[in-house]
Amino acid sequence: MKIRKLQSGEEVPLDLLLLADPSRRMIEQYINRGECFAAEMEGKIAGVYVLLATRPATAELVNIAVAEEHQGQGIGKQLVCDAIRNARLSGVKTLEVGTGNSSIGQLAFYQKCGFRIMGIDRDFFIRHYPEEIVENGIQCRDMIRLSLDLD
Ligand SMILES: CC(C)(COP(=O)(O)OP(=O)(O)OC[C@H]1O[C@@H](n2cnc3c(N)ncnc32)[C@H](O)[C@@H]1OP(=O)(O)O)[C@@H](O)C(=O)NCCC(=O)NCCS
Repeated sequence: MKIRKLQSGEEVPLDLLLLADPSRRMIEQYINRGECFAAEMEGKIAGVYVLLATRPATAELVNIAVAEEHQGQGIGKQLVCDAIRNARLSGVKTLEVGTGNSSIGQLAFYQKCGFRIMGIDRDFFIRHYPEEIVENGIQCRDMIRLSLDLD
């Protein structure tokens, strides 16, 4: 597997980005401001992540997704490690990520990758997503904010 940065003008794997973020409108807002990296296996994109510089020395992993048939094989963790490496190269000291209160598996995944909960953006998904989101039988309302110290 090879992870590489997609060049501007290259097609982004929208189907994968939509796995992590159901809002096309939100994806369009960050995709051109951030850097998109793709994991390729046998010439096909198996995973993707988008890194966005947000504040001085701070970046956010605004999207990360692994194709369903490749999930649970360690690719997500490799993508996070690659994001950490690229963020460090850009002088980032804090890497942040946000996920829904209902995204129980993702909360486990990020914590296994070393992220720690730092706050809750209450009603984020009510304010920014027109459609109701329900996962694991729980309404997705609040964004759980997590961060990883890269020092
Ligand atoms: C979340 C996602 C990126 C994880 O990628 P992955 O390749 O399946 O994860 P990995 O195989 O690298 O797992 C890394 C660790 O996280 C754990 N983990 C991953 N998904 C998990 C889940 N749903 N529940 C519990 N633990 C999970 C693994 O068990 C593994 O633990 P270990 O280090 O102790 O072995 C992937 O499931 C995905 O693309 N989901 C759909 C899109 C999405 O929800 N993106 C995030 C939006 S916030």
